[in-house]
Amino acid sequence: MPTQQTVLLVGGTGRTGGRVLRQLLDRGIRVRAIVRTGGKLPPDVADNPALTVVEASLLSLLDEELQQHLRGCDAVISCLGHVLGLKGIFGPPRDLVTRATTRLCRGVEALKPPAPVKFIVMSSVSVNRPGGLDTRRGSFERAFLWVLRGLLPPAKDNQRAADFLLEKIGPNNAHVQWAVVRPDSLLPGDLSEYTMHEGLVNSLFAPGSTNMANVAHFMCELVTNPKTWADWKGKLPVVVNASSKST
Ligand SMILES: NC(=O)c1ccc[n+]([C@@H]2O[C@H](COP(=O)([O-])OP(=O)(O)OC[C@H]3O[C@@H](n4cnc5c(N)ncnc54)[C@H](OP(=O)(O)O)[C@@H]3O)[C@@H](O)[C@H]2O)c1
Repeated sequence: MPTQQTVLLVGGTGRTGGRVLRQLLDRGIRVRAIVRTGGKLPPDVADNPALTVVEASLLSLLDEELQQHLRGCDAVISCLGHVLGLKGIFGPPRDLVTRATTRLCRGVEALKPPAPVKFIVMSSVSVNRPGGLDTRRGSFERAFLWVLRGLLPPAKDNQRAADFLLEKIGPNNAHVQWAVVRPDSLLPGDLSEYTMHEGLVNSLFAPGSTNMANVAHFMCELVTNPKTWADWKGKLPVVVNASSKST
């Protein structure tokens, strides 16, 4: 009988993060959720005995405090996102996802866990896979994204977080293994059929769609299904609804 897994979740009060939280608990996984406002969690989930809620500002936690929350976790899931609106997009912390990713991964490394911890981060199809491997992205779209990253802090932030995992953590880290999940345009719909791809499926100018419930399902599969993890660790899978037309 496998032991019950524990996941540290950040961004659990968000649209996708809330769905991840519910699906993890439905799978019998213990969840530690670091949230700014516990009252934002749905009451039926908040009362679940498998859930531990830590009410704190993630980026303000001391290293020792963060390590205490990370200790004993099998996986970390980040569904953090810049809150929509002028303050969320242009105000501090402009590097929310990068700083959270760096702190969480460095925290895991400091603990030197006996087995590598999975780090799963919600990202976006605006993020490039290195080495020109996203072949569907033409030079005009790459130039457009370059400008976008200069103008919109969240676009730059998501790319920098992925670059940190690719370049600083790398593929052979003894303590952290990672996957950068890239959904297309997010939709609130129910869980449905979806597909995963190593590279981009759609252009930014003719986007596809991804239900948040499908992102959550894939993230949970990465935690619980060893084959799914073996297939996608160290990669930047693109997740799209099966019904989403490719361009
Ligand atoms: N919108 C799209 O179509 C789309 C497509 C692909 C990818 N994405 C990416 O998906 C990610 C998540 O999207 P979403 O719509 O599910 O997110 P969301 O509903 O906006 O939730 C964002 C989460 O981040 C938390 N958060 C924001 N600022 C924080 C801070 N300074 N400190 C700690 N926590 C903070 C929020 O906490 P509070 O509840 O306390 O505010 C919330 O839990 C984003 O990174 C976005 O780039 C979006």
